[in-house]
Amino acid sequence: MSTAKDHYDQQLASIYSWMAGTPEDTIRRNHDLFRQFEVNLSRGLAIDLGAGSGFQSIPLAELGFSVIAVDFCETLLSELRDRAGNLPIRTIHDNILNFPKYVEEQAQVIVCMGDTLTHLESLDSVQSLLLSVKGELATNGKFILTFRDYVSIEPQGTQRFIPVQSDEFTILTCFLEYREDVVEVYDLIHRKEGNRWILSTSSYPKLRIDRNWICDLLQKSGFEVVQNTVTNGMICMVAEKL
Ligand SMILES: C[S@@+](CC[C@H](N)C(=O)[O-])C[C@H]1O[C@@H](n2cnc3c(N)ncnc32)[C@H](O)[C@@H]1O
Repeated sequence: MSTAKDHYDQQLASIYSWMAGTPEDTIRRNHDLFRQFEVNLSRGLAIDLGAGSGFQSIPLAELGFSVIAVDFCETLLSELRDRAGNLPIRTIHDNILNFPKYVEEQAQVIVCMGDTLTHLESLDSVQSLLLSVKGELATNGKFILTFRDYVSIEPQGTQRFIPVQSDEFTILTCFLEYREDVVEVYDLIHRKEGNRWILSTSSYPKLRIDRNWICDLLQKSGFEVVQNTVTNGMICMVAEKL
């Protein structure tokens, strides 16, 4: 077992965008999603927490925001910069829990998407992040969260093996081990070298975050939750700061 940071640095970063499919399609889908949430009606600062290779930062910058993109994986931030060209995106290599120290004006939009939230170490860290988000967001600003539902469904037996992505040289399979508070995620990567398949493995814990818990927390912290849906196991919440 390793930490989420080690896992990204040593195992996942080099194949992250390949794993996600066609980057252009993902960016276009997020563009449409942000328009659907009427994010495009404002301008100013957007903050992307756990920005990865830019699947949210890029559409936000294309919609007219200047973006602060925070991630603790430098390989992915470097890919983001290459993809972003001249778009106004400032990358910050740090833990998302430290993001307030890089912010000088209140943000109109803060996003933490693509299951980044479950990578935090504890529910206390999630709570502390939400309080920081409230502090850095302008009144009526939007906080958009997407994360995987590891609470309401618990796969059993062979359902815990997930074929994620493959091509003729690489196969990524995921195995999920459910514990009380976390799901241990094992990434099994087979790479073809000559005539042989070489396997590398690594695992890291993801938090099991209850959707109702986070919804209550947002409401108690001074947000109105205006969207709360689950699609294909992915929870999507949009909260506006009151
Ligand atoms: C599942 S990826 C999502 C990336 C991107 N938002 C997307 O949708 O493609 C999670 C990202 O969060 C980053 N991450 C996870 N925990 C973090 C933390 N505590 N501080 C900074 N980055 C973190 C990882 O390096 C990774 O880039």
